[in-house]
Amino acid sequence: MSKSTGYTPTAKTLHWLIVALLVAQFVFAWTMPHIGRNTPVTTLISLHFSFGVAILVVVFVRLLWRATHAEPTPLDGVPPWQVQSAWVLHWLLYLMLFGIPVLGWINASWRGMPIGMFGWDCRNSLGREHQVGAGAVTCTQYSQIS
Ligand code: HEM
Repeated sequence: MSKSTGYTPTAKTLHWLIVALLVAQFVFAWTMPHIGRNTPVTTLISLHFSFGVAILVVVFVRLLWRATHAEPTPLDGVPPWQVQSAWVLHWLLYLMLFGIPVLGWINASWRGMPIGMFGWDCRNSLGREHQVGAGAVTCTQYSQIS
């Protein structure tokens, strides 16, 4: 990874895409009907799920990008405590952007609600991918032992 002097257009695009999705997500969250026992999944609730899963996908892409591209070097004269607190806050933000949709997903699953992203049924797909992933982990462990 080489040090850069500014964020790349891809990083900026992913950043503003997440901001736009979050703004829409809060609008849906605050206008959708209160979710209680046996609440039917109406359009606004379905949009909340779709945008939430979309945020999870984009944040995952952003994390992959972050893992393979160096962040810009701090400007001259910025005190170390500011550099360190910016680093901590950035990772806290990533943690929340990842954790909040996962918690919402668990909540909706626990209620037996259909979770999808714009018509794509995530429950069934993730069930299959979970199995494939678990199989891959088992094979990797086995090949390391033998
Ligand atoms: C970054 C993404 C997300 C944000 C910012 C977010 C935000 C919120 C907010 C603010 C509420 C409270 C609404 C109220 O005032 O009653 C809420 C509720 C809820 N969200 Fe999300 N959400 C996200 C992702 C998701 C996802 C991915 C799912 C499911 C697939 C989900 C499912 C739910 C459910 C089931 C509730 C109702 C919880 C309850 O009242 O017990 N959310 N969300």
